[in-house]
Amino acid sequence: MFAKRTSWNMAPNRLSEALAVHRAAGKPLLDLTVSNPTECGFEYDRSAILNALSNPDALAYEPNPRGLESARRAVAGYYADRKDDVSAEDIFLTTSTSEAYSYVFRTLCDPGDELLIPSPSYPLFDFLAEIQDVRLARYSLIYDHGWQIDFHALGQGITPRTRGIIVVHPNNPTGHFAKHAEIAKLNSICSAREMAIIADEVFLDFALDGSRAASFAANRGAPTFTLSGLSKISGLPQMKAAWLIAGGPQQWKREALARLEVIADTYLSVNAPVQLAIPKFLEQRHAFHKQVSARVRRNLAELDRQLAEQSACSRLTVEGGWCAVLRVPATRSDEDLAIELVTAQGVSVHPGLFYEFPADGYLVVSLITPERTFTEGSSRLLSFF
Ligand SMILES: Cc1ncc(COP(=O)(O)O)c(C=O)c1O
Repeated sequence: MFAKRTSWNMAPNRLSEALAVHRAAGKPLLDLTVSNPTECGFEYDRSAILNALSNPDALAYEPNPRGLESARRAVAGYYADRKDDVSAEDIFLTTSTSEAYSYVFRTLCDPGDELLIPSPSYPLFDFLAEIQDVRLARYSLIYDHGWQIDFHALGQGITPRTRGIIVVHPNNPTGHFAKHAEIAKLNSICSAREMAIIADEVFLDFALDGSRAASFAANRGAPTFTLSGLSKISGLPQMKAAWLIAGGPQQWKREALARLEVIADTYLSVNAPVQLAIPKFLEQRHAFHKQVSARVRRNLAELDRQLAEQSACSRLTVEGGWCAVLRVPATRSDEDLAIELVTAQGVSVHPGLFYEFPADGYLVVSLITPERTFTEGSSRLLSFF
């Protein structure tokens, strides 16, 4: 009686099983996969965050498909601070970037239409697409003097049913930003074929060298949807506050906004207290960003110090985001390796397989891991080889 799209394999994977057995035995685990910022020992301004949620204006219901204007103005202000010109009228608030993806997929795709996603990348796309009856095709990212888009593969992945290209900027877990020349190519491909760019910028602020990467939110060269939110920007994933911006050629944008408005009006999903708190939550980003940047730099420096003392493993170039990718000897599958690291070394890492690396020999570690755990975990990880 259930839809075929929900017939997922619900069995835990072998790595989750190994982790569960390890934990059940009460053995200590050095977790180098943490991505939830509220569990990483960062300091938050508790009273500012909690007080922001008790605005008396929340007692009134003011339905607006785009979300409250005060919140959208604050989001536009975030882009203005980055020197990106975004109008509050082009913004829709959502409860997560996942929800924003679903609005975009629904706006662009009929059942069976296709979207291109980068590979390797964020593993949630398959579920998001399947739930919306969208098919995914992959375009590879190649690692050659840093990561870059394989435009040949991307061109081959386009079919008459392709409606858009997803770009994660910077990508998770490879940590590379789309470059100016790549953005120009994406614009020309998408505008020529009536496709949209869908840019996920949740990690945009986290460039390792402190530079300010250009946002797709100000892109005018092709139909563009830009997604971001407070999960990463302010380290507040529990507040469920994100957004979607439509941009690009004026006529296309008007049409996209009108269609999005109907979808958003059907759900009106973001609650009033959170919307009213968004300006204050956005202010929290400065203190959060400072702490994350310091930790990521220190962990990366420690990783490099340890890597310099051995020759079996190396790390790939990272430009931004919260992860580092390690190149390790491919003597077994990455999944088997990650399981052995749990059982033999008490260290948890993500196998490259989770992100669809093209071959074995890649492990991913989180650079927001608390520093002592990161230092000890990296040391145990590298001593395995
Ligand atoms: C690339 C990317 N996009 C989106 C998200 C999730 O964001 P949200 O909590 O707003 O759904 C993540 C979470 O790790 C991510 O890595």
